[in-house]
Amino acid sequence: MKKRIFSGVQPSGNLHLGNYLGAIKNWVKLQNEYESIFCVVDLHAITVPQDPEKLRKKIIEVAKIYLAAGIDPQKSTIFIQSHVPEHAELAWILNTVAKMGEMERMTQFKDKSQKEGRESASVGLFDYPVLMAADILLYDTQVVPVGQDQLQHIELTRTLARRFNKSFGDTFIIPEYFIKEEGKLIMGLDDPSKKMSKSAKSEYNYIALSDDEETIRKKIKKAMTDSGSEIVYRDDKPALKNLINIYSLLTDRSTGNIEKMYAGKGYADFKSDLADVVIAFLRPFQEKMAKISDEEVLDILKKGADKVRPIASKKLSEVKDKIGFII
Ligand code: AMP
Ligand code: TRP
Repeated sequence: MKKRIFSGVQPSGNLHLGNYLGAIKNWVKLQNEYESIFCVVDLHAITVPQDPEKLRKKIIEVAKIYLAAGIDPQKSTIFIQSHVPEHAELAWILNTVAKMGEMERMTQFKDKSQKEGRESASVGLFDYPVLMAADILLYDTQVVPVGQDQLQHIELTRTLARRFNKSFGDTFIIPEYFIKEEGKLIMGLDDPSKKMSKSAKSEYNYIALSDDEETIRKKIKKAMTDSGSEIVYRDDKPALKNLINIYSLLTDRSTGNIEKMYAGKGYADFKSDLADVVIAFLRPFQEKMAKISDEEVLDILKKGADKVRPIASKKLSEVKDKIGFII
């Protein structure tokens, strides 16, 4: 029996190299060893305001990104979170298991709610990690491949699963996380002390998977560098380290090898080559995306939901029975 993995990306903002290198790239490899479920988490996306027409497009775009990146619908299941209502239903039940204190310690909520002010953040944004726990626990997920920023949410998921099991008897599998050291945290191009982020204020923070050649060159040219002129992979040069890291992950060259290649060369040479590397990766990726039709992707998503719904429904019935509902 293959172990099961589950992961997802929100259909909001511009998906960027961080999402690819931190998460999706790993899924493509893992789908060969695991029974894989990848979700487009639209219920999570609406925890901050979304324009309905843009959201609808984004959901399809994220699914196309999964496919263009190499997720194979013959091997993996892809579906839209809201097509399986059990996610929201289990989240409600888990809301009664989660405690205010532990929810208030979630750093992503603190960061995200800071932007507009805590008073005006939605209750959904606060509750976001419980919904994520429901996503994971509904499918007896054993491993959750994500970037570093999701670690705290997975720890919460483990806590909720253990607490539920203790109160009502063994129901949920306690999931492990899979965070690959390389790529787990790609930093912003404009500020290497903050992660590359979809919701960044400046578009110079990220390279979107949809950026064209000219934009990529412009962004990399403008990317922050550290003082000095040598191309070295060192902690005291965080901006350069991040750029070398991206170069390394996209070419499968070691960082040491890249240092050697650029010995005696300066930032300008390195950045110009990095732009070539990013373009060489993104061009075929974007071409693949453009070839996938909306109909094709909607068909895959519908079949995906049909496939996983029975798993979710069975788990939810078990939960309802355990807590004393009449099923
Ligand atoms: P999100 O953009 O929040 O929907 O994240 C989708 C996936 O990408 C999650 O697994 C994140 O951990 C991962 N991710 C997001 N930003 C980064 C980043 N800057 N570096 C590495 N992984 C990231
Ligand atoms: N919260 C995750 C993020 O923003 C997305 C997500 C939702 C997820 N549900 C999940 C990831 C379940 C893994 C498993 O990155």
